[in-house]
This record gives sequence, C-alpha cells and structure tokens, in this order.
Amino acid sequence: MRFLALTALALLGASDVSAHSFALAEHCPPSFDEAEDGRCHLASLYQLYTAEPGQGGLRVPLPAMKGSFSPQQIDLGRLLFFDPVLSGDGRVSCAHCHHPDLAYGDGRKKGMGGAATGVGPARTGDVELTRNTPTLWNVGFLGRLFWDGRAASLQAQAAEPLFAANEMASTPEHVRRTLSVNATYRQLFAQAFNRPSDRQITVDEVTTALAAFQSSLISLNSRFDRYAHGDENALSDAELRGWNVFRGFVGRCAQCHVPPLFGSDDLAVIGAPPVPGRPYDQGAGALSPMDAALKGAFKAPTLRNVALTAPYFQAGQFATLSEVLDFYNAPRGHALPAGARVELHWHIHMQKSELSAADVADVIEFLNTLTDTSMAPPVPVAVPSGLPVVPRLR
Ligand code: HEC
Ligand code: HEC
Repeated sequence: MRFLALTALALLGASDVSAHSFALAEHCPPSFDEAEDGRCHLASLYQLYTAEPGQGGLRVPLPAMKGSFSPQQIDLGRLLFFDPVLSGDGRVSCAHCHHPDLAYGDGRKKGMGGAATGVGPARTGDVELTRNTPTLWNVGFLGRLFWDGRAASLQAQAAEPLFAANEMASTPEHVRRTLSVNATYRQLFAQAFNRPSDRQITVDEVTTALAAFQSSLISLNSRFDRYAHGDENALSDAELRGWNVFRGFVGRCAQCHVPPLFGSDDLAVIGAPPVPGRPYDQGAGALSPMDAALKGAFKAPTLRNVALTAPYFQAGQFATLSEVLDFYNAPRGHALPAGARVELHWHIHMQKSELSAADVADVIEFLNTLTDTSMAPPVPVAVPSGLPVVPRLR
C-alpha cells in the first residue's frame, strides 16, 4: 500500500509531498514479531541455542539486541535515514555514505564527506574522512560502535555524523527546526512517539528513530546460517574446510569474529599496516592514552556480508579478502611501522605462514557464504522533505 502510494507520488514529482502520502508501517519488518509491548522483537532460531559462544561452535546464541522499537519508529527512521534534510546544506543523508546497494557502506577506502559526500567519484569540496565506512547490517546487536568503539549506543553514535563539520554539518537547532516546520514530519513523529503533533521534534526522537531503522537491518539468512541450522548440504566441501580453518586452532579467526555475528564488541590490537602519509591510527588507544594495551586497538568488525564490503580495515588498507588473508598469514607484527610499540593480541600468533594456499582459498570461499541481504528494507522513492533520495546504483 505504502509502496503504491509512493510510486504514484514519484510520477507526480517528488516536490508535491503531502502529509497524507506517508503512512508509517503498522507491522514489524521481516525477522521481527510484534510483542504485547507494541515493539518489534527479533525472531531467530539462534535465540533458541544454548551453546557457549566464543568457541567457534555452530549453534550459539545471539547477543541480545540493544534496543526494541515500534514498527512506526522503524519506518520513520527509514525515511530519516534517506532524507538529506537532516544535513546542514540539505545534500547529504546517512544513505549517501551507508548506501543500500553497497551493503550500507560506500565502497571507498575512507568515507567521503563535505560538498558531495558518499558514493561516486570525488568532486570539488569533498573531504576525505580518516576511516572506512562500516556496513550497518546487524548493527543493532553491537554494544560498541565505530572502529575504535567510542560510542556505546546507536542513539549516541548518530549525533556524530549529524553534527560533524566534515560529514552532515548540521546543528541540533537546524535538525529541530527543519523537521518541525514540515507538517508531514510533525504528523509522523507524533504517530511514532505517541504524542501530540504540535510539539517541536527533538534530536532525541530523531536519533531514536534512526537507531530503530538501523536495528532492523538483519542479515542472518546466509548459506552459512542454513548450514548452522541443520542443512548439511548448504555448504560445499571447500566452504566447510574453510569454516574449519576459520574456527580452528591455527586460524583462530572465530576467537575475535565470533559466530553467529562474526564480530564482537572486543577491542583487539592486530597490527594493521599504517596508511601512507598519515600518522599511525592508535584506534581506541587515542581515547585512553594511559592504557598501553589499547594502542592500535580496534573493534573486531562483523564479517557478515564481507564479500560486499571491500575495501577492508579501518582505513581500507586492503582491497581484497585475499590481501586480508595474506596479512593474517604472515608473521605477527610484520605490517607495523618501525618503532610502533603496541601489544599484539595473543590470537595473532603466527611466526611464519602457517596456512597453506589451499587453506587460504578455502577460508575465502567460506567468507563468501556469509552474504545475505534478503531482508533489505525498501528504499523510499521519496522522502517528506521532497529532497532527492540518493540515487540507486543498480
Ligand atoms: C560522510 C559519510 C558518512 C555519513 C554522512 C554518515 N556516516 Fe556513518 N560512518 C561513516 C564512517 C567513516 C564511519 C566510521 C567512523 C569511525 O569509526 O571513526 C561511520 C560509522 C557509523 C556507524 C558505526 C558502525 C559500527 O559498526 O561501528 C553507524 C551506526 C553509522 N555510521 C550510522 C550513521 C547514521 C545513522 C548516519 C546519518 C545520521 C551516518 N552514519 C552518516 C561515514 C558516514
Ligand atoms: C585478535 C582478534 C582477531 C583475530 C584472531 C582475527 N581478526 Fe580479523 N579483525 C580483527 C580486528 C580488530 C579487525 C579490524 C582491524 C583494523 O581495521 O585495523 C579485523 C578485520 C578483519 C577483516 C576486515 C573486515 C572489514 O570489514 O574491514 C576481515 C575480512 C577479517 N578481519 C578476517 C579475519 C580472518 C579470516 C581471521 C583468521 C585468519 C581473522 N580475521 C582473525 C580482529 C581479529
């Protein structure tokens, strides 16, 4: 119903955006059930499992999602996520950098902010950020956000891109005002937050709706998941060998990229190579300079959809999974800049290449089984501001 209404609207021209055209979803997105509290709760087989996580086991439980939201909040967040109205100059939305056709990343080594932000070739006025844009799939499970883990919730996280001069360059006042003068948004916020529509929209409501939408990005239906839930034919022999190397004593990948999310909130120093021309990124260490153990530490990112999220590492140092595997399969610390004093994690242990070329190829095959975007939410064709939504890439 909503889809039809929006299609008609697009034909009429997106500037003619009236309050009645945007009805918020009344039901939870796929993967979620609506509970008695009116909020959407994840429904996944993984929640039924009781094995100890962290050992590379198959039927391990998921961590709890960090928030639960109503269908209306999730759907309002979807509109906000794609609406450039939140930015200072009305040209940049979250989706410009977290693009739905690039697994909610941007395919760049490092994020691109400023005048033209996001995907596509750089233009005058663009500013390169210092870090790679992470995927947002399964981000609702994370207790630490950003490569250095500096935000503890999606709500707190969103304030950074919104108000950073080199990202969306907005201000709290600008966000409150531009949304509150829009009759459609006033009505939608009233509906999503169960309150009268004559109140000013708050930044808190905006970041809550954005968190709600992002938490709905669930990727747990890959071929690996079919295997984990009992379909023994879901993986090929090479993929299975790769899974066993991944979780085995030599690879040890699963110690940090913990199934079933294949990431963790733990910060680890793995000895990433420096970026030419830039000071060595101390990661979490820059936030706690007194803690020597955190120098060069980063959050172990999710490997869900990793086949779609190149380039890799916190500044896109590696172009391919093969390059990443070569990094792990070389003696520990080999990529560190001369004189870097960091405490490498004990699971980064190789003194020489211990994985054979066949092992490496199998691990890459296995990583390719973690792809699943089947629950991708619909990308709005129009948003309440009437501003253009980021162009689709395919
Ligand atoms: C100019 C590009 C850009 C824009 C616009 C942008 N982001 Fe990001 N986003 C990034 C980059 C780069 C990082 C990683 C920064 C870091 O870790 O220091 C990031 C990190 C994140 C993370 C952390 C993910 C994780 O796994 O830790 C979330 C969540 C996120 N962004 C959501 C948003 C939302 C919501 C918006 C809109 C309000 C937004 N972003 C706008 C580039 C962008
Ligand atoms: C000690 C913990 C640890 C172990 C063990 C580990 N990783 Fe990582 N992994 C990390 C951290 C931390 C990062 C982010 C590093 C950075 O950006 O500097 C990372 C990044 C990655 C990335 C890039 C993801 C992205 O989105 O950029 C891939 C792929 C990856 N690891 C695969 C593996 C594989 C395969 C193994 C086993 C051979 C492995 N990891 C072992 C902690 C670990």
